[in-house]
Amino acid sequence: MKLYQLIYVSKSVASVSRVELKEILKVACRNNKNQGITGILVYDRGHFFQVLEGGYNNVESVFAKIQKDKRHCRVNRIISYTIQERFFSKWYMGLYNLEDSTHFDFYKLKNCMKSLHEMTSVSEKRTLAKYALTIFIDLKGKTKVQPEDLIELT
Ligand SMILES: Cc1cc2nc3c(=O)[nH]c(=O)nc-3n(C[C@H](O)[C@H](O)[C@H](O)COP(=O)(O)O)c2cc1C
Repeated sequence: MKLYQLIYVSKSVASVSRVELKEILKVACRNNKNQGITGILVYDRGHFFQVLEGGYNNVESVFAKIQKDKRHCRVNRIISYTIQERFFSKWYMGLYNLEDSTHFDFYKLKNCMKSLHEMTSVSEKRTLAKYALTIFIDLKGKTKVQPEDLIELT
């Protein structure tokens, strides 16, 4: 089966509490496990950035559900493409809440997320989203910046 990755950004309709984020994550992990989907969800002051990866049909169908979710708006697909291997193979959905984070590397990411909403050029947005991905890939090895909710594949 070919693997597919989709990255989008969106804005929350209201500020999202930790409890609400956990609620989103709980449902996401349950569904994603059934669908063979992995990825990350990043939240920072009203901005979401999510990476979904798995089979084409499964990723597109979960994204269709996410797009209709009333908890966020301005859902903007940045890029979707075939990948050779999963970037986030260990997490059905790893949650990063950057709101309280003062970690230096996350400043870059916060800026990326903000810019992804402001930019109009599709190609610039794609370049920036890929850059944001590389920040994660660099961070993945550092234990202190693992996602809060690490759900290992079984
Ligand atoms: C920012 C955001 C990210 C989400 N990510 C996922 C996800 O990765 N997988 C998922 O199944 N649902 C996700 N959801 C929830 C879906 O929009 C939807 O509520 C859920 O899939 C419905 O599940 P159900 O059909 O089991 O009731 C997300 C919602 C939001 C607001």
